[in-house]
Amino acid sequence: MSEQAQSRNESLILGLETSCDETAAALVLRDSAGRGQIVSNVVRSQFDEHAEFGGVVPEIAARAHVQWLDRIIARAMREGDARLSDIDAIAATAGPGLIGGVLVGLTSAKAMAAALDKPLIAINHLEAHALTPRLTDGVDFPYLLLLVSGGHSQLVLVRGVGDYERWGTTIDDALGEAFDKTAKLLDLGYPGGPKVEEAARTGDAKRFAFPRPLLKQDRLDFSFSGLKTAVRLAAEELAPVSDTDIADICAGFQAAVSEIVAARSSDALDRFAALYPGIAPVLVVAGGVAANKAIASALERAVARHGAKLVVPPPALCTDNGVMVAWAGAERFALGARDGSDFVAQARWPLDTLGPVGDQNGEGAKP
Ligand code: KG4
Ligand code: ZN
Repeated sequence: MSEQAQSRNESLILGLETSCDETAAALVLRDSAGRGQIVSNVVRSQFDEHAEFGGVVPEIAARAHVQWLDRIIARAMREGDARLSDIDAIAATAGPGLIGGVLVGLTSAKAMAAALDKPLIAINHLEAHALTPRLTDGVDFPYLLLLVSGGHSQLVLVRGVGDYERWGTTIDDALGEAFDKTAKLLDLGYPGGPKVEEAARTGDAKRFAFPRPLLKQDRLDFSFSGLKTAVRLAAEELAPVSDTDIADICAGFQAAVSEIVAARSSDALDRFAALYPGIAPVLVVAGGVAANKAIASALERAVARHGAKLVVPPPALCTDNGVMVAWAGAERFALGARDGSDFVAQARWPLDTLGPVGDQNGEGAKP
């Protein structure tokens, strides 16, 4: 495929993701016009390994990545009907995340790159989430990104590949973490987000008046820990909680976070419109929590009021996966980015420290 890919000026990128509890590998093809195509996508979630602990245990996660990554890569190659020699570059998440897991994926990518004599592209996991809507929906720069995952809750202006400005962040828990803690408190199991969403379906959102922290303040930051405490107090007061109590608490919690997230995004859209008066605003939602339908509908209403467009990638590409890493690798590769085998895995790696890549107005460097 590589010769063909190259004759059509396309690049085939292998992406590896191991920064949390998904072991994932994928192949993505990017053409010279910037369009991408998913060639294969293999994800193994470690739900069973972590379920009894109610959250991700870093050492267990790293060990499972070691056990599975080779097989996951082999499957991605097989399902994509590709040979290792077909690959143009190997991209791997190099942070931020659980450092043991990041090391497993990044080291494998380095070894493959060295053995196959192919370029290595080190990927920031948050950038991988941030660029996914360019693959799924062809979104152009600049756009506004609401990144809501297990480790992050951020509003970010995306100006280009590597070119980010963080407008707001959480001052305590991440939104996905708040979902997971609520689920744990109510004994709903792990991962918590989908369980809370499911339980909320039959609940009465008005029964509990949960707080909306920071909502009255003139800033784009989030805070979820006060809400988490309110949920805990409500559950403790009712203990033992019935199924109806659980449904009502989940519905109240979900209504509160939906309102917070929609209001903040609305403020950010005002700011975007003031900054780019001639550009129709696009709000992109990425990260695992983007799979939540209640939050998506609250955002849909907020975005409609601004005459803006909401883009939410399909759920399987919102939660962690190899496609997003391969795609971020493809975008960087096309702009000439290459990383050395000395690239150091990062436990912390804020998006706005990356810096723009290549000449994004021109053709970019040729692969
Ligand atoms: O992006 P992701 O897969 O991993 C991180 O990089 O963190 O996000 C995982 C987070 C978890 O906290 C999970 O509970 C949450 O996303 N999540 C959801 C839903 N599906 C996953 N939260 C709310 N509703 C959902 N349907
Ligand atoms: Zn993620």
